[in-house]
Amino acid sequence: MHGQQPTPSMRWHVNDIHFSAVDCARMRERDDLFLLVCSASFVESGSDTYTRNLVDYFAGDTEVASWLIEHWEPEELQHGRALKTYVQHVWPAFDWDTAYADFFAEYSRLCTTEELEPTRAQEMVARCIVEMGTTTYYQALATACDEPVLRDLAWRIRTDEVQHYKHFYQFFLRYQGLENTQRRQVIAALWRRVNELRQSDATIALRHAAAWRFRGRQDAPTAAVINKRVYALMGAEYPVGLAVRMTLKPLRLGGRMQRWVERPLAAMVRQVLLY
Ligand SMILES: [Fe+2]
Ligand SMILES: [Fe+2]
Repeated sequence: MHGQQPTPSMRWHVNDIHFSAVDCARMRERDDLFLLVCSASFVESGSDTYTRNLVDYFAGDTEVASWLIEHWEPEELQHGRALKTYVQHVWPAFDWDTAYADFFAEYSRLCTTEELEPTRAQEMVARCIVEMGTTTYYQALATACDEPVLRDLAWRIRTDEVQHYKHFYQFFLRYQGLENTQRRQVIAALWRRVNELRQSDATIALRHAAAWRFRGRQDAPTAAVINKRVYALMGAEYPVGLAVRMTLKPLRLGGRMQRWVERPLAAMVRQVLLY
């Protein structure tokens, strides 16, 4: 496994988070925040599985491979460790390791090279969309939660995700030139990845977090009720404008065209959030 130790280039360290300042008694009742933090900790902790596929796909490109191994992966794994520490601090009765093993058994089957895009430029577009998803997720979480330590953590992670987006975007520009990628190919990659966002790792992680959280509880809510609850919390704070701008960026539309496309797309994103 790569990058278990934080590299000096990291903008922050898990030890910078003041876990002891959390009002645990108050937070412990918040099933919605538990599910959001726990499911995110699962996805982030599984990041190294995906890195190997990406590094293989970009074989021969040492700039991409070394950035993925030396920066991207250690940062994603640190997100996982920090979120896991938060969960274990607030909900010590929750058996994170066993629940994670359950999640990983299902998640690891999704991480195959067949899931990658047909060209390198398109894969970079897909990676931009994933980082857009995480950026907006943590921004919504930071805004929605009323617990200062979690807000601080979510905002630090959000800042990292923006940097990841910028790197993948620069790599996309390089490959777009090398592969002479057409706009229709960019649209196809965007479309595939945006559609995948809802039926993806986050959904699996949420299902596993909920299954373990509510195991044996008389008042266990159904999956539909759980989804509705977390979407309601996040949907109200979701930065739709930012999501749309980050999604459209790889299309490299002109200013007028961009404005023309933004509105219907923002409406579509809001629609996705409602269902
Ligand atoms: Fe992350
Ligand atoms: Fe990221």
